[in-house]
Amino acid sequence: MRSRVVLGAAAACLLARGDAGRADVPQASTEFTPAEVRRILQHSPLPPLPPDPTNAVADDPRAARLGQFLFFETRLSGDGRLSCASCHDPRRAFTDGRAVAAGARTGRRNTPALWNVAYNRWFFWDGRAGALWSQAVQPLESPDEMAGGRLETYRTLRDDRTLRRAYERVFGPLGTGDNAAVDRAFANVGKAIAAYERRIVSRRSPFDVFAEGLRDGDTGRVAALPAAARRGLKLFVGRGQCRTCHSGPNFTDKEFHDIGVPPADGLDPDPGRAAALDRLRRDPFGPAGAFSDDRHGEAANNLSFLAADAHAQGQVKTPSLRNVALTAPYMHQGQLATLQDVVRYYSTLEGRPPSGPGEEDVLAPLNLTSEEQSDLTAFLESLTDAGLAPSLVAKPPTP
Ligand code: HEC
Ligand code: HEC
Repeated sequence: MRSRVVLGAAAACLLARGDAGRADVPQASTEFTPAEVRRILQHSPLPPLPPDPTNAVADDPRAARLGQFLFFETRLSGDGRLSCASCHDPRRAFTDGRAVAAGARTGRRNTPALWNVAYNRWFFWDGRAGALWSQAVQPLESPDEMAGGRLETYRTLRDDRTLRRAYERVFGPLGTGDNAAVDRAFANVGKAIAAYERRIVSRRSPFDVFAEGLRDGDTGRVAALPAAARRGLKLFVGRGQCRTCHSGPNFTDKEFHDIGVPPADGLDPDPGRAAALDRLRRDPFGPAGAFSDDRHGEAANNLSFLAADAHAQGQVKTPSLRNVALTAPYMHQGQLATLQDVVRYYSTLEGRPPSGPGEEDVLAPLNLTSEEQSDLTAFLESLTDAGLAPSLVAKPPTP
């Protein structure tokens, strides 16, 4: 008999359709059942960017260019050496290759890549920011990251004529240096950077070509996905239950889970979402705050639905899997070095602590054979498209 423990809605629905049994999952076949095809096509294509009404310049090309300039600008950091790109390095798929970040101090979390970041609802591993621009101002001031400040940011804009002109073309007069003007300029720097980050999009991986072929019945494009990756895909949408959390075209449900990977050596267990909720509600640079361009819209409303959640302890955001092959090491503390390690973890759940309140009952050891593990890894590798226009991956000569 099947035990019906507290499963998420999506997982319960999977069980109801019988996916938990093994019988309907042929081990080596590369053919897909109609049900599998339907599930596969939910992961592609990536839809157009969702609008961000909290940021009036989100899709303004001049703001994006200014933001790109600021993304690479070391003058915004406390010691003049660090920029966003120091950790989110475009040559490393917008990450740093480290287990945990090394900024002004050694951090406690892994640097996430920024692919398709504008499709998220919450930002940071713990989701403590409710809009992309609200996120962007935090590292500027964080003692772990750039250790800069609002006043320094304001002065950098004020004292550089070209930069100031570029800023004022987008946002109007910089204003005198009172607190209100300093805070407004700070929020606007976040909005410009967010306009740039919205262009960091990955949508045309071999998997997407394959999905297109599957939809059109075109065997040429179906072959864009090698047989091993196709077998891995079957596991991903079937017995592996990966799609329960890594759902939709950006391979994330945008929500928070504790999958139980043990903390990295020398680091405490991460409180995750539990420690973020208060800060999120009170964020002066948040979607409901004074600098938001849509204080009563959807993003602001999302904040009022945040309950104190007994399950939030230890939960982190489900990361997107697009370009995941380029962004090792993995997990919020960089605990797992390679994709093979990640797949082995889901296969054994080794080291996972005994059930706590945030435990995900959808997770059970998958006991994958070594061939199945390499198939699943091959599928994850097929989600790679890091092809951004060269003009987007370096500091522009002028803002
Ligand atoms: C010292 C390295 C470092 C620097 C510098 C840095 N970041 Fe990050 N970034 C991180 C780490 C680590 C996290 C995850 C922190 C957390 O979850 O608490 C992160 C998270 C993010 C996220 C959230 C992504 C998501 O999916 O939720 C975005 C967006 C981001 N950074 C953009 C920026 C921008 C913009 C700047 C410059 C203003 C910047 N970062 C500077 C290391 C850095
Ligand atoms: C219960 C929800 C859930 C399920 C089911 C799930 N994942 Fe995850 N996945 C997550 C969360 C949450 C993280 C981040 C965990 C952390 O940092 O501690 C993650 C992390 C990952 C990462 C690392 C990404 C990165 O950038 O660090 C990969 C790869 C991954 N999952 C693949 C899979 C595969 C393959 C499956 C199916 C075998 C799967 N996941 C099933 C929620 C889930």
